[in-house]
Parts: sequence; C-alpha cells; structure tokens
Amino acid sequence: MILIVVPSEGKDEKRVALSPETAKKFIARGCDVVIEKGAGLRSDMSDADFEEAGARISSNIAQDLAKADIVLGVNCPASDILKFIKKGAALAATLNPTDDLDKMNELAKAGLSAFAMEFMPRITRAQSMDVLSSQSNLSGYKAVIDAAAQFNRAMPMMMTAAGTVPPARVFVMGAGVAGLQAIATARRLGAIVTATDVRPAAKEQVESLAGKFIAVEDEEFKQAETSGGYAKEMSNDYKKKQAELVAKHMTKQDMVITTALIPGRPAPKLISKAMVESMPRGAVIVDLAAERGGNCELTKPGEIYQHNGVTIMGKENLAGELSANASSLYARNLLAFLTPFIDEESQKLAIDWEDELVVGTLICHEGKIVHERLTSAGDKK
Ligand code: NAI
Repeated sequence: MILIVVPSEGKDEKRVALSPETAKKFIARGCDVVIEKGAGLRSDMSDADFEEAGARISSNIAQDLAKADIVLGVNCPASDILKFIKKGAALAATLNPTDDLDKMNELAKAGLSAFAMEFMPRITRAQSMDVLSSQSNLSGYKAVIDAAAQFNRAMPMMMTAAGTVPPARVFVMGAGVAGLQAIATARRLGAIVTATDVRPAAKEQVESLAGKFIAVEDEEFKQAETSGGYAKEMSNDYKKKQAELVAKHMTKQDMVITTALIPGRPAPKLISKAMVESMPRGAVIVDLAAERGGNCELTKPGEIYQHNGVTIMGKENLAGELSANASSLYARNLLAFLTPFIDEESQKLAIDWEDELVVGTLICHEGKIVHERLTSAGDKK
C-alpha cells in the first residue's frame, strides 16, 4: 500500500498540501493518507474533516515520515523534518530550486525523489497541475482587494445628491495569470483599468476583460514571447521607451498592481522612485513581484509603508492569505500530478521517469541533482 504523509508547514505558511477532498480521492485509489495533527487548521480544514475523509491524524509525524512513500508539502520541508523522511521517498512541493541550491543538495543527499511543482511544464496536459497558475490567480484578486482596503476613496463611480465620486484608476503591469485576475477584479469593483505587458498576446486578453492596453508596440514587442508563453528580457532601448510611456501614465493612477516576472531572473524594475513621487497623494502600489525583488524600486519585500503619500505594499505570498482556497486548489494540483503514478493493481508507486512532466519537475533522484536547469553549467540561477 502506498503511504502518503503530509507534515504541517512552517509558522509563516497558512496553506496545507492536502484537503479532505484530495485525501478522499487518494484513499479511493487505495492509498493510505496521514496528515499531521492540526496541519489544516489555518486553511479552515479541521482534523475531523480529514478523519471523515478517511485520513489518519498523526501525533508523531516523525514516525510516519519514516515510512512514507510520498510526502506532500506546500513549501520545501525544513531540515528538522527532512531528516525523518525515508530514503527513496517521493517529495512533491514548491521547492524554490533556482534560489536554494543548497537545499536541493540536501534533498539529494537525503535520497529523495523531489518534484518542484513550480517547474511544471506549461502544456495543455499539465494545466490542472499548474501551481503557479492556481496560486497567482488568487494573488491577483487579493492584490486588488488589499489595495482597495488601503485606499481612502471608493473604487466605483458614485453619483449622489451631494456630488459625484469619480471611479478609481487602476494600472496593472504584467498581464499574466495574476495580472488578468487583477484586471477582472478591479473592473468588477468599477475601476477604470489599464494594463501593460511585453507579450503581444496579452493585448487581446486585456481587452477581452474590458481593460485598455498600453505598451510600446514596436518590432521588438512583436517578438517578445518565448515558445513557452513567457516574457523575454527586453533590450535597454525598449525598457527606456517603456519607462517613458509608463512614467506619463503613472501620474494619473490611483492604484498600480505590478506582477511582471521573467522566469529565473530578478523581477524587472518598472517603477522608479521619481514615478512614485509623481503619483497622486493617497495612491497605492501593490508589488506582487516583491518575492523576486519587486517591480518598484522602492518596494521593501514583506513590508507596507508610505513614501510621499503613496502606500507601497510588498507583501509576499498573497495567495497564502486566501489559504482555504489556495490550499484546496494546490491540493488538487498535487492530486492531478500524482494520480497517474499510483498503480492501483500492485498498490505501488509507478513513476514514468521518461514522462515530460516528470523530467520537467524532478530535481533530484537516487542521490543526485538531475534537473537540467540546475546541472547545466552557467544556468545555476
Ligand atoms: P509570469 O508570472 O512569469 O509573469 C507575469 C507577467 O509579467 C507576464 O505576462 C509577463 O509577460 C509580464 N512581464 C514580464 N516582463 C515585463 C515587463 N518588462 N513589462 C511588463 N510586463 C512584463 O507569467 P504567468 O502569469 O505565470 O504566465 C504568463 C503566460 O504563460 C500566460 O499569460 C500564458 O500565456 C502562459 N501560461 C500557460 C499555461 C498553460 O498552457 N498551461 C498556464 C499558465 C500560463
């Protein structure tokens, strides 16, 4: 029988890698599922909910980890948990591999087959396993809600006997998964929404959500998308033209939500100190790229503060603040990824090591780092 074990996350993480729904589905496939006592509480999932789904609640997770075939995590388990996991076990979590190579070596040394869920290839078959999408969608929503809560004005236009309240102007930088949800949320709240991106495909998506697209649409822009659908690093000349356009636009914006990322690279700096200082008093910037250094020059990761009357919010892990939804979706991503590996007949793990999704996510196996993004020289970051 395959044993799936889910330890609690660290104190700064409210999410959990299993939900009662996914526990039930793993169990229906013949697996044994064990979750650490209280692990779901910060996502509004009680021990009783998990027990009802058929899972066992563990008060001695070390003992269970020593027998686990699969360990599930939101983040990479801390060293004092890793040390208990059975050699040869599979670990599926967001591992932050490019930033934490030492930790990846630790996983390899522990003899684990560790899968980094954020490396999931963005192909149609893997859409249901795409943790970046499931979590970014929530953070895009939460960014707008946070900005609205911080804002001293209303979002929609209001026509009252005492006069008209103007609608807020929201500018979204980076119209990927998070940005598109931010646009949709801000529109629903009645704001006037504009957005920018360097990928030409984003233009139509922004317009389909009734946002106005703003970008330097030159020849470079037309080529600025990789085959994987991601942004490319732009030339200095393009960045200069983009900055000029953005600078002018920013002077009239009440809220700016930034989400611009380039995989494996620091977040592009799109908002300078001077641009912040040109914004109206009371404006709010939510920098969703804070975890990768921020899109705004003034962002302090993890902090909320004011500069010249403008609030700059650099909170990290916004999806984690909607932990109940974030955990449910993340747990489903894991279920979708792992289900094909469960051989119901033999009740053993049957991982196809040649599979594109396995090759794309497997960081270490049989004591060695195996992922090409970590092993190829010069591409360690
Ligand atoms: P991301 O989180 O890496 O980046 C966010 C956005 O920032 C992207 O749209 C990117 O083009 C933009 N950006 C980067 N540099 C910029 C700059 N200098 N100025 C303005 N914007 C900039 O990307 P995310 O949201 O994870 O996905 C991007 C795209 O990937 C999606 O829109 C889609 O086309 C594709 N995708 C495909 C999936 C699939 O097929 N399974 C699933 C999810 C996304």
